[in-house]
Amino acid sequence: MIILVGYVSIEGQSKKIAETIAAQIEKGGDRAVLFNVVTGAEYGVDHPEAVILCAPIHAGRYPAPFVDFVERERDWLKSVPSAFVSVSLFIRSEFAEEREEAMHFPDALMAQTGWTPGMVHHAAGALRYTEYDFFKRWMAKRLAEREGAPTDVKQIHEFTDWPALEGFTKQFLAAAKA
Ligand SMILES: Cc1cc2nc3c(=O)[nH]c(=O)nc-3n(C[C@H](O)[C@H](O)[C@H](O)COP(=O)(O)O)c2cc1C
Repeated sequence: MIILVGYVSIEGQSKKIAETIAAQIEKGGDRAVLFNVVTGAEYGVDHPEAVILCAPIHAGRYPAPFVDFVERERDWLKSVPSAFVSVSLFIRSEFAEEREEAMHFPDALMAQTGWTPGMVHHAAGALRYTEYDFFKRWMAKRLAEREGAPTDVKQIHEFTDWPALEGFTKQFLAAAKA
């Protein structure tokens, strides 16, 4: 089976997540077409039979080019088994309201684009303080203070639950082939 693994990533974590999914797909004997939805070239030539899209939340929303891509490709996305991985920090917040908010981030995307993925996975992202510029570091630290995440700006903090992601991918592949 050929599976498109499309992603958009501002700081690199969603890319890492997409790469991990693609590697797992290939390891299992299927073919993964890794695709950056912002910069990627034509993917139609590969005729993917299923799709997994990954996108991060920044300042309460998914990046506009990602939303544009989903809108543009809605008909095709609806025609194959599809899944969405929503990457955020709120999903690992110590506060229930923020975790709840994160659970609903995909709702706005679905309402706006008309795409309803068959499966949705929520992955906690990362705080790459050492790679941010001054302003972004300040914003990220404020976000972390607000929700009980680490604030040591001399380190990269990664919160993604890799075994949970692997389980999700396995489940999606089984469903897509059924
Ligand atoms: C400037 C900035 C704003 C962010 N805003 C939010 C937010 O509103 N809600 C949230 O849950 N996570 C937020 N995050 C956390 C990101 O979703 C997390 O860092 C994720 O790993 C980013 O994915 P990427 O590396 O693929 O861009 C923010 C991160 C940064 C750096």
